[in-house]
Amino acid sequence: TTVLNNPLRPALLAAARSPRLEGAMSRMRITRKLVDRFVAGESEPDAVAAVLALVNSGRFVSVDYLGEDTVDSAQAQATVDAYLSLLQSYSTMDAAPRSLEISLKLSALGQGIDRSLALANARTICAKAEQVGVWVTVDAEDHTSTDSTLSIVRELRVDFPDLGTVLQAYLKRTEQDCHEFSGPRSRIRLCKGAYNEPASVAFQKPVDVSDSYVRCLQILMEGDGYPMVASHDPEMIDAADRFARAAGRDVSSYEYQMLYGIRDAEQARLVADGKQLRVYVPYGNQWYGYFMRRLAERPANLMFFVRSLVSR
Ligand code: FDA
Repeated sequence: TTVLNNPLRPALLAAARSPRLEGAMSRMRITRKLVDRFVAGESEPDAVAAVLALVNSGRFVSVDYLGEDTVDSAQAQATVDAYLSLLQSYSTMDAAPRSLEISLKLSALGQGIDRSLALANARTICAKAEQVGVWVTVDAEDHTSTDSTLSIVRELRVDFPDLGTVLQAYLKRTEQDCHEFSGPRSRIRLCKGAYNEPASVAFQKPVDVSDSYVRCLQILMEGDGYPMVASHDPEMIDAADRFARAAGRDVSSYEYQMLYGIRDAEQARLVADGKQLRVYVPYGNQWYGYFMRRLAERPANLMFFVRSLVSR
């Protein structure tokens, strides 16, 4: 089974963008328990508790304040404030260097309203993160935003050279982007990609997505940057290990990454094996889009949801 073999995937990903369904789902009491499998909670203290537990287990974290497709600048400002507050909490934690990171979605910072607003908001967050010694990585959203996102990342890297970003292996352009972003201090989180994308820009077959992932990973591992291998797929995890050895990389020069609540035992195994492993920890009340993408990516996740509805 792989990322694109779920026949309901396109419908679920379309539903992930429906405000009407979001309203209906948010009112369903049963959903909360399911959401909690993938989301660390609604409040910052919930996120901090999850972070401390993960860091104490030897894992690294990247916290995402949930929200996307913001069309209102006050909402974008609220997102900035949430990150600034979280970074303040980070600064009081006794955690190993590198272990704390934040992940940002530019669409939550106002990219859909005005590019310069998203840029200014991201800059405010990057400045605070630099002050407290925390890494920042910019998430990848749907393909219509890729050029804008990468151009904002390039601009910010002039002042914040350690700013990382996500590249999605399902996009046909990504192999080329990996060449650009494999230089010194480049931090690239390589994932398969979670949105509904047309065949004109994205590979559709799971095997083609995996092949693209492996090609992109090889470019990053052979480069001089810091690859972040974001996948739960054993084939991708094995390929990372192979390429890292072939390139003579030290385990500290790259890392594995998985999502909160997914393959916990495998996360622990990698840590026990001496690997660096970061968990992406989402929190906040705007969980709908994130949650629907998790349902779309794995029939087992969807079945769990359906079963809980019929057994109510
Ligand atoms: P995929 O879903 O194809 O699964 C492959 C195999 O992994 C399965 O066959 C199974 O063997 C194993 N597996 C998966 N889930 C399992 C489970 N629950 N239990 C046991 N085995 C399991 N996307 C995006 O578009 N933009 C972004 O910014 C990000 N950011 C991001 C950060 C991080 C840290 C991660 C891990 C992922 C993302 N993603 C993302 C999501 C990503 O694009 C993708 O949708 C998911 O990671 C699923 O793809 P996988 O590579 O994990 O494998």
